[in-house]
Amino acid sequence: MYPDWGPGEEVLGNVGPGRRVLELGCGSAGNLAHVATLGAEAVGVDMSAVQVVQAQQRWPGLEVRHERAERFLSAVDAPYDVIYSVYGASWFTDPDALLPLVREALTPGGVYAFSHNPPALAGCYGAQVSQMKPERAGDEPLFVKRFDHEPEQWELLLKGAGFEDISAGIIPPPEGKRLGTLLVTAHAPAY
Ligand SMILES: C[S@@+](CC[C@H](N)C(=O)[O-])C[C@H]1O[C@@H](n2cnc3c(N)ncnc32)[C@H](O)[C@@H]1O
Repeated sequence: MYPDWGPGEEVLGNVGPGRRVLELGCGSAGNLAHVATLGAEAVGVDMSAVQVVQAQQRWPGLEVRHERAERFLSAVDAPYDVIYSVYGASWFTDPDALLPLVREALTPGGVYAFSHNPPALAGCYGAQVSQMKPERAGDEPLFVKRFDHEPEQWELLLKGAGFEDISAGIIPPPEGKRLGTLLVTAHAPAY
């Protein structure tokens, strides 16, 4: 959320050579490009054509697919060692649909990590709607669904989807900033 604030790629475990790493909702792919420099076989997926074009222009040669995360995960042929999402598809996709797909797409013991804003309103959990400002005056506003949960709720959801070794919490913001960062890590069963 804030540059050089909070943990770095160490939350993903080993992302060095030989490891297969997937980002869900990579946007213009700054984080994915960083992971690729560490030696991993890095793949990004984003449903926005605008973001994918930006990513491809910023990082020629980086593998970024224009696809919904759910659809991409449903067709994975070789599993990933690490799947992560930075304020990405993990926040904007119904966890009941997404979590089983992520678990199935991970190697045994594989890491799933994601971050998003803490819930905006205490008591308002699950599907929420954000109204986005239209690009031009007079255009209809856009509405985006997101899924807000407290760390404890994420732990239950992940456990229910068969994940293990789950850790969820809120990283406090730097001084003068209001919003912390909700960070979750979990593992696919090791067998
Ligand atoms: C707030 S941006 C974050 C982008 C990037 N992870 C970053 O940190 O800069 C959210 C991104 O997730 C993508 N996204 C949301 N839901 C998605 C889904 N179901 N499948 C693929 N991409 C999705 C959006 O298109 C958008 O690019």
